[in-house]
Amino acid sequence: MNHQNAFSADMTAAISSVWGRLAKTPIVRGQGSRVYDVEGRSYLDFTSGIGVTATGHCHPLVVQAVQDQASQLLFGQMNCMLPAKTVEYSHAIQEATPDSIDTFFFSNSGSEAVEGAIKLAKVATGRPNVIAFQGGFHGRTAMTMALTSSKGIYREGYQPLPSGVFFSSFPNAFQDQCDPEMAIDTALADLERLLKTQSMPSETAAMLIEPVLGEGGYLPAPKAFLQGLREVCDRTGILLIIDEIQSGFARSGHMWAHESSEVRPDILVMAKGIASGLPMSAIGASRELMSKWQPGSHGGTYGGGSPLAMAAGLATLRVIHEEHLIENAAREGEYLSNRLRDCLSRLPHRTDVRGPGLMIGVELIGEHGPDKELVTSLQHECLHQGLMLLTCGIGGNVIRWIPPVNVSRSEIDEAIDIFDKSLNSVMESQAGVALTS
Ligand SMILES: Cc1ncc(COP(=O)(O)O)c(C=O)c1O
Repeated sequence: MNHQNAFSADMTAAISSVWGRLAKTPIVRGQGSRVYDVEGRSYLDFTSGIGVTATGHCHPLVVQAVQDQASQLLFGQMNCMLPAKTVEYSHAIQEATPDSIDTFFFSNSGSEAVEGAIKLAKVATGRPNVIAFQGGFHGRTAMTMALTSSKGIYREGYQPLPSGVFFSSFPNAFQDQCDPEMAIDTALADLERLLKTQSMPSETAAMLIEPVLGEGGYLPAPKAFLQGLREVCDRTGILLIIDEIQSGFARSGHMWAHESSEVRPDILVMAKGIASGLPMSAIGASRELMSKWQPGSHGGTYGGGSPLAMAAGLATLRVIHEEHLIENAAREGEYLSNRLRDCLSRLPHRTDVRGPGLMIGVELIGEHGPDKELVTSLQHECLHQGLMLLTCGIGGNVIRWIPPVNVSRSEIDEAIDIFDKSLNSVMESQAGVALTS
């Protein structure tokens, strides 16, 4: 098929404009860290579809598993039957999750899983409210919008949102230009105040937190902060829900980003990298907690019933294990961070390169504050030169680096070359800003 002819008319007009889009030209193929457009151009995809294609595009083992499964059973509705692949996957994911998590509910998207986790927490505790943290992103359904505070656009125009949601601070020492310990103490004090003044522990079912803020700026939650939350939860009977939708499945250089804080989640929410591209999400909890969910009080036509997603999920776990992707993410993440620091040392900006493993945020603060203009220009110049990058952060001034977790050293070097050239060309075109080398 001649793709160029097929797309010559403006066919994209039939697609809702609500999707803002980085690359405009239709993409026809992906392999590993690269995608190819209808005009035959190749791009290094360091977005991984916002963290979904964690094992790269079309990993051969994932493709084979999906092809094999497609000829066996495409769908098995969970209330009508029990697909064998779902049973197999639930055992495999049990092995991969912390000891406190041994029972699973499956759904399709991250938002659905977060909504389900909140429902479970409310039913299990008999308490109505939830605490989320400033800058968090948890989805776009009604309840998950209400839990999201990473940008106004995710909520504007949709108010009023579901009630019973309270926000507490997320420590940000770089933004507040303070000592990291002081940022943690202040955030924990905010939480204590909230629990005394707005939502009493007896009314609070759960706290919901991303161990690394995603949309909110690729900002890791400090270990002492997560430990502080755990302590409050243990003291008050509030459940700790950890949203690992973006940070899970080896992305952080650990299987789960919260592992490095040695904190136990009561409920773990997973999606994105879970199945290398097939729609799938999961809620994990202890059997005791899960058993408080009365049969029929939660569900969905598709959740858990897609043997294709389960097969892709099994293959993904196998690839993570056999190809040592946790180690790859840790090692290559450190290399990428160091190379980025070198590149950025020439900028007159205040910069921060942060994040665990291959979940790296680069924040740029210029003379007049968060430099969204430079970040956006850089993103577009990189795309022009064949490197796809996303941005994030409340001020839109953070470049996020989220390549596949099996990215190679030479692909990182290639990406850094493009980034470096783009940085030069953007800075040269910005009058009055001089590089220092
Ligand atoms: C941390 C986090 N939670 C929840 C979601 C929502 O997932 P979905 O877009 O699949 O509904 C996202 C999506 O970006 C996310 O990053």
